[in-house]
Amino acid sequence: MLKSFHLKASKSHQRLLDLAKTDGHRSVTDFFKEEPSRYHSMHAETNGLMMDWSKQRISKATMETLHELASEARWQEGRDALFSGCAINQTEGRAVLHMALRAEPGDTFKVDGEDVMPAVLEVRKAMLAFADQVRSNVEIHNVVNIGIGGSDLGPLMVTKALRRFHDGGPSIHFVSNVDGAHLEAVLDGLSPKNTLFIVVSKTFTTQETMANAMAAKAWLVDALGTEAVRSHFAAVSTNLSAAGEFGIDEQRTFGFSDWVGGRYSLWGPVGLSIACGVGSGNFKALLKGARAMDVHFQQAPDRENLPLISALTGIWSREYLGFETQVVLPYAQDLDRFPAYLQQADMESNGKSTGRDGKPVPHATGAVVWGEAGTNGQHAFYQLLHQGTSIHPADIIAVKSPMSLHLEHHEKLLANAIAQAEALMVGRRSDQVIAEMQQKGASPSEIEAVSPHRVFAGNRPSTFFLLDQLDPETLGMLIAFYEHRIFVQGLIWNICSYDQWGVELGKNLANQILKEWNGESPAPHDPSTNALMQRMKQE
Ligand code: F6P
Repeated sequence: MLKSFHLKASKSHQRLLDLAKTDGHRSVTDFFKEEPSRYHSMHAETNGLMMDWSKQRISKATMETLHELASEARWQEGRDALFSGCAINQTEGRAVLHMALRAEPGDTFKVDGEDVMPAVLEVRKAMLAFADQVRSNVEIHNVVNIGIGGSDLGPLMVTKALRRFHDGGPSIHFVSNVDGAHLEAVLDGLSPKNTLFIVVSKTFTTQETMANAMAAKAWLVDALGTEAVRSHFAAVSTNLSAAGEFGIDEQRTFGFSDWVGGRYSLWGPVGLSIACGVGSGNFKALLKGARAMDVHFQQAPDRENLPLISALTGIWSREYLGFETQVVLPYAQDLDRFPAYLQQADMESNGKSTGRDGKPVPHATGAVVWGEAGTNGQHAFYQLLHQGTSIHPADIIAVKSPMSLHLEHHEKLLANAIAQAEALMVGRRSDQVIAEMQQKGASPSEIEAVSPHRVFAGNRPSTFFLLDQLDPETLGMLIAFYEHRIFVQGLIWNICSYDQWGVELGKNLANQILKEWNGESPAPHDPSTNALMQRMKQE
């Protein structure tokens, strides 16, 4: 179990509050004037992933105090507890060891004194052999991953991100929503005899996944008969018996343990659809990159430790500057599902208000994570980022090597990424706008009427990430980087990052409503819910 940490009772907290009133209001451009080499002291890199936090609204004194906060929270002890397999998921009594799924032979991860690596490596071998078998099976043209949440978002995001590594093999599709339109749209044009379904569900009870899996099974059986289920379905779950009851062949069922959280599970058999798309070699490279980030997180000194620093700048923004969201802007079309993936990873982990001591936390916790691929977002919501009344710290993610054969596009893409970070920081003063308008011959009345609208306040924080390339290894690092950032924030915020009780109530009520619609006696609901229930069932 992780020890409780009371942020507001810490020595650093008061100092950070004071700094927020002073340095927190200063402009980053002034910080640069005072220290032109600020970029050099506020960027770090590891294995082809560079992070530049020099455009954060953070002075040197603030950064040092944030590091003191981390020390007070005994973050290193917490990190060691995570890697040692302690049951840090305290409300479910489980270890949190997704790092074992990307570990190498010779690494040791123990749960209750038992080395989990032999079983991890065995399942990895079996699942990757299966994936390569699927890829070489000329009959299988399409693989459909049926899952939701962590059983969908991670595999979907990675599959899209590694588009360029799909060298032959089947096309990979994803069905998640319980809206039958999703399944219908995916199955449209697919042929049952050329399709493999992978039902991915940690619990194998999730309403959406089970409904889609049953409908997919009916679609297959209708065309090919019941026997076809054995050769056209595979399963990934911790609930092996339920997968068996569904009719999925044991040889095609890949298990994992409850110490892997759904939103952290893409590294194991949940990533089967990724491996079917990019092959076992590329999947192993993804794991290698993530493991490299694990090593960095464990060994890099605090002042160069990327997940730690990013977690601290996030806490500064959230708690001390009062910024409520974190916008994620990947300048890579292939990463267009990255914000959605990160939404679950971060918000399901750190969207909590009860402390590890069972008491309400007296401070802010997880920020709202949102975003969109650049440059698309620029033509949608950047107006608000630049001139809105609220400030949204941005993570801008760019990739140095082109991701397409259209090389001239890439230069434009990178120029936009850098330009947005610059614009967010420097803004545009009134005197600059007026001078520019005068130069263009605008009349004094026009200048008076329009110039205030063309002013950008600036001083809007961002962190810039530069990946050498978008390949499996670097992607693995990037994902693991965010996983560890989430861990550090949860640790300092004193919350339980690895449960998700907040999703239960809605699920239970939906089941209750379904039962009532199917004849069960009505339970008490509020008048609005009753009215909606009746209206939806009106002839
Ligand atoms: O949204 C709640 C949740 O439990 C997620 O944590 C999980 O990733 C998702 O549902 C799917 O769960 P399962 O893999 O058990 O179907």
